[in-house]
Amino acid sequence: MKPHVYVACKIPDETESYLAKHVQYRKWEGPGAIPYEVLLEELAEADGLLTSGNKIGLELLSRAPKLKAVSTMSVGYNHFDLDAMKERGIIGTHTPNVLDDTVADLILALMLAVCRRVPELDTYVKQGQWKKGDNDVLFGLDMHHKKLGIIGMGRIGEAVAQRAHFGFGMDIVYHNRHRKPDAEHKFGAKYAEMNDLLHEADFVVLMTPLTPQTRHLFGRNEFAQMKPTGIFINASRGPVVDEEALTEALQQGQIFGAGLDVFEREPVQPDHTLLQLQNVVTLPHIGSATAQTRNDMAMLAAENLVSALLGADPQNVVPELRK
Ligand code: DGY
Repeated sequence: MKPHVYVACKIPDETESYLAKHVQYRKWEGPGAIPYEVLLEELAEADGLLTSGNKIGLELLSRAPKLKAVSTMSVGYNHFDLDAMKERGIIGTHTPNVLDDTVADLILALMLAVCRRVPELDTYVKQGQWKKGDNDVLFGLDMHHKKLGIIGMGRIGEAVAQRAHFGFGMDIVYHNRHRKPDAEHKFGAKYAEMNDLLHEADFVVLMTPLTPQTRHLFGRNEFAQMKPTGIFINASRGPVVDEEALTEALQQGQIFGAGLDVFEREPVQPDHTLLQLQNVVTLPHIGSATAQTRNDMAMLAAENLVSALLGADPQNVVPELRK
């Protein structure tokens, strides 16, 4: 008998056809995100779950007695309770690599949007504020030949460094748990302690995954060390940053601006103070959101799940759950 899979997120037809060949599946067809209670009911009989962001914790696992594998269609897996999954022997997989270039492109877009004030000046033109003689009110900051600080030099960090170094002539400085000799060689990247990086960099790109250790890694102390012309970009996970501290830093001109694809709470509330500030460019967590990349992620997530359920070694078990 084919294993039972529940698909809790939208996936393309091609991925469904692949799943249909290997497993029996049911899927969430309602509008919006699946309600938690519905997910719990659906998991009563499931051997595998294909998800994108549903919290996989003790309660859910206790209601899913047959569950063997959870495959998330994302590279981030901070929604996995790793201890609970380990205890239950659940295989947990994610989708690294296939999204690196797409996310890196978006990070460069945010950097440019903030330093050249693109959304703000787009509104300026559309609202008819552009007058002959406008000059320094339109000035931004250069990106080319500036120094880029990358915190978390993983695959996406490297893809950002490559674009910034070869495309924009930027010097790269990075901070990471381990030195990356390869990045040092390829992009002339210089390793620095966090404080030194914050003092030196014109752009700070945060790429750290969210773990209990990195929650609010970036707060008042970190923003205070950045240059007043510094630009801060977060496209990893919102809770790595203390948003109150970021708001203060932006309001007080401690930094020039910020580009955010992620927030502590998503969707961000429309009345959030950050959204009232002109020196912030915001996006709705779209790092990997192109049709091509999301299709690739869905297929990889499905392949990971099928391998896990059919007893083969899935390629992309999250590091903390590898045997
Ligand atoms: C991921 O895959 O973790 C990304 O944040 C999704 O855009």
